[in-house]
Amino acid sequence: MENSVPNHVGIIMDGNGRWAVKHGMIRSLGHKKGADNLKSLVQYVFTKGVKCLSVYAFSTENFKRDKEEVDYLMNLIIKFFNKEKSTFVKNKIKVLVSGSKDNLRSDVIAAIEGIEEATKDFTDKVFNVCFNYGGRLEIVDTLKKIIDKVQNNELDISSIDENLVSSYMYKDLPDLDFVIRTSGELRTSNFMLWQSSYAEYYFPETLFPDFDEKEFDIALEEYSKRKRRFGGV
Ligand code: FPP
Repeated sequence: MENSVPNHVGIIMDGNGRWAVKHGMIRSLGHKKGADNLKSLVQYVFTKGVKCLSVYAFSTENFKRDKEEVDYLMNLIIKFFNKEKSTFVKNKIKVLVSGSKDNLRSDVIAAIEGIEEATKDFTDKVFNVCFNYGGRLEIVDTLKKIIDKVQNNELDISSIDENLVSSYMYKDLPDLDFVIRTSGELRTSNFMLWQSSYAEYYFPETLFPDFDEKEFDIALEEYSKRKRRFGGV
């Protein structure tokens, strides 16, 4: 039997830098083009019946990049959230940001809190932006929260199971069904390690700024052909 539409899709938006170089531009303009692409792609993904979309916008390791590029990405997320807020509200999309607040500028934190607050009452469609995010760090931060509860006698060790751990992650999200990494790189790079344990992966060669609605349809077609067994036969 064919798979239906995935409930939770993840996109590792790779290849912005190479897109810029290919078009004779500085790397940051590749991120701008990526953000422009993301604006329309998010809206499209939900029209296909996907309920939750997670994207990898900035990893904790991305702080190692030149200050100019890091600053550009910080300013880009502020602009992205401020400009798109009304569209997310209009389309009833809940926006969440997963990641550490450590090392983030106060104006970036304000933009994150602003969009989360404006969309907090929506439930049907969830857009989760991983920003200053690392999959291992998320697991470590979750362990700390759980241990703290146990030490304060608010949680019994015997009640710790997989569902409980999921509920203590940065955001309580369903498991990923399908993860797309653009640009032909065959790595997962610390993206949502806990949530992707049984995800199907897809690695198109297309660079993220060119990964448009047509490419997403091709990805869904590919997903529909996968046989998911979750460890069974
Ligand atoms: C990886 O490409 C991409 C990033 C590190 C940033 C992704 C960000 C966007 C798509 C912009 C939209 C995001 C928001 C909401 C701010 P790369 O730079 O590693 O590309 P390369 O591998 O070709 O060098």
